[in-house]
Amino acid sequence: MDKNVMTEENVFSLIGDRWMLVAATDKSGKTNAMTASWGGVGVLWGKKVAFVFIRPQRYTKKFVDEAERFSLSFFDDSFKKTLGYMGKVSGRDEDKIAKSGLTLSDINGVPVFKEASLTLVCRKLYRQTLEEKCFLETDNIDKWYPQRDYHDVYVAEIEQQI
Ligand SMILES: Cc1cc2nc3c(=O)[nH]c(=O)nc-3n(C[C@H](O)[C@H](O)[C@H](O)COP(=O)(O)O)c2cc1C
Repeated sequence: MDKNVMTEENVFSLIGDRWMLVAATDKSGKTNAMTASWGGVGVLWGKKVAFVFIRPQRYTKKFVDEAERFSLSFFDDSFKKTLGYMGKVSGRDEDKIAKSGLTLSDINGVPVFKEASLTLVCRKLYRQTLEEKCFLETDNIDKWYPQRDYHDVYVAEIEQQI
């Protein structure tokens, strides 16, 4: 995949169809990652930003919450099965990264994967839990949140694109 994929390819397909891994390291130095297909990139507060949505029950959330930075990794189609696995099993139950066959590395302490064709190193700027009263299209409440397990949205500055 071309490194300029964010400008040359369709970002909707990049995130929504190809998916990405959100990875972070907690205070003890342990790393976890999960698949995400909701999120985006854009411009906010004068910075290039990425935003991701993480449900409260995801183990990865604790890692993202404890870390100052997280990474978003994009892979070519041959890794689709791996991303399916990372999005089905929880790091609470298995050492997902070891079992995935992906090679964990780091950039200044931020976990990244050698096999990724595009990596965004992101510094957290903002976190907020989606609120029921803020939904303007209220159909989305029952449709996506029958358990009322609203996502937290994280907005983060894209510090590096590798
Ligand atoms: C294609 C795909 C996209 C997903 N997108 C998201 C997402 O955007 N936000 C989220 O909270 N969970 C998402 N998930 C679910 C998590 O990846 C899944 O629950 C994962 O097992 C969590 O792992 P963890 O408990 O180790 O963090 C997605 C799963 C798949 C398969």
